[in-house]
Amino acid sequence: MVLRTNPAKPGPAAAVSSRLSVKAEQFTESVIREMTRLALQYQAINLSQGFPDFPAPAEVKRAAQEAIAADINQYAITWGAKPFRDAIAEKFARVQGVTVDPERELTVCCGATEGMISSMMAIINPGDEVVVFEPFYENYGPDAILSGATPRLVKLRPPDWSFDPDELAAAFGPATKAIILNTPNNPTGKVFQRAELEFIRDLCVQWGAFSISDEIYEHMLYDGAEHISIVTLEGMRDRAITISALSKTYSVTGWRVGWVIAAPEVTAAIRKVHDFLTVGAAAPLQAAGEVALRLPPSYYETLAREYAGRRNRLLGILENSGFRCFKPKGAYYIMTDISAFAFPDDLSFAKYLVREIGIAAVPGSSFYRDPAEGRTQLRFAFCKKETTFQAAEERLSKLRAG
Ligand SMILES: Cc1ncc(COP(=O)(O)O)c(C=O)c1O
Repeated sequence: MVLRTNPAKPGPAAAVSSRLSVKAEQFTESVIREMTRLALQYQAINLSQGFPDFPAPAEVKRAAQEAIAADINQYAITWGAKPFRDAIAEKFARVQGVTVDPERELTVCCGATEGMISSMMAIINPGDEVVVFEPFYENYGPDAILSGATPRLVKLRPPDWSFDPDELAAAFGPATKAIILNTPNNPTGKVFQRAELEFIRDLCVQWGAFSISDEIYEHMLYDGAEHISIVTLEGMRDRAITISALSKTYSVTGWRVGWVIAAPEVTAAIRKVHDFLTVGAAAPLQAAGEVALRLPPSYYETLAREYAGRRNRLLGILENSGFRCFKPKGAYYIMTDISAFAFPDDLSFAKYLVREIGIAAVPGSSFYRDPAEGRTQLRFAFCKKETTFQAAEERLSKLRAG
């Protein structure tokens, strides 16, 4: 995603933009999803967009088929079918140890994506600022514009993607409405540690800010990394807006089912926005979600172990091909440094890769406000099956650094 810095610039573009939304003029289409289209066009192996190319769990798919056969085909309650909300609350209590009221603190949305924009539209007023770590998942830029928030960017610095506490503290102020957190993190693979979250918590409490925490990769953790939901920290129970989804954990990104957990007053606002944006998520898929959320602990152990294997596999392939990799601790992406390749920037390299080598990856610039900051980076997704890795390995062997 590219944010256009001067949407109101006079000239031919302005004539067009006067007919269209000034907000929509401020960002371009998603680079990640464009890379998927290019991958299809050039028959490239798609290591760009984060969707698994292996099957979803059989019992979850069966539950969806059965729900449709049983005619769970009409609108669910707008903020989510009661049994599905109960299952979400049960799992949250089991995994995070936090008891939430499914009647007043939970909203089922069309994916984490809608959960984020509904949450922002529910709390943002003109003049409000949101703190966002950069590099960021590209949706957060347009989410800020659409909801009317001004982003205050704070750097995550390689190789460990840590932040400078002074820089973060300086980004907070009286206008701060929220901080957007994404842990485990896309694109960096960072998993925020307790001390970092406590520092963020202290700033939220000091400035009366919300945290909006996108935890969609909560079960993809490596090398002993622990996922801590900021809502579990003292002082955050009423400030934390926690977002997750079925998408990644159960390999069903196309189902578009996610949820938001927030204090009752905040949930009431989120539910209103959600209702008028989408009415609700797919009813039969919410029914199948109950089965997914009640899978035993062994499901999550296997998931993490298999993803660790995929991570190591892609790390090996990329390193052999000359990429410098930032080893992720969570999520399912590898950020790489492409300086060793003789290309002027990430975009030209990504285009060469997709057209000539047959591999689609995401240019690093799409995760930064200033594209120049991502010009030496490229992101690869490893939510792929072994045959995909084999084909990618063969194609990348044609690539030479230097
Ligand atoms: C950090 C993050 N949040 C949200 C999403 C999208 O979630 P959903 O498919 O549930 O809308 C993605 C997908 O790549 C993501 O990386």
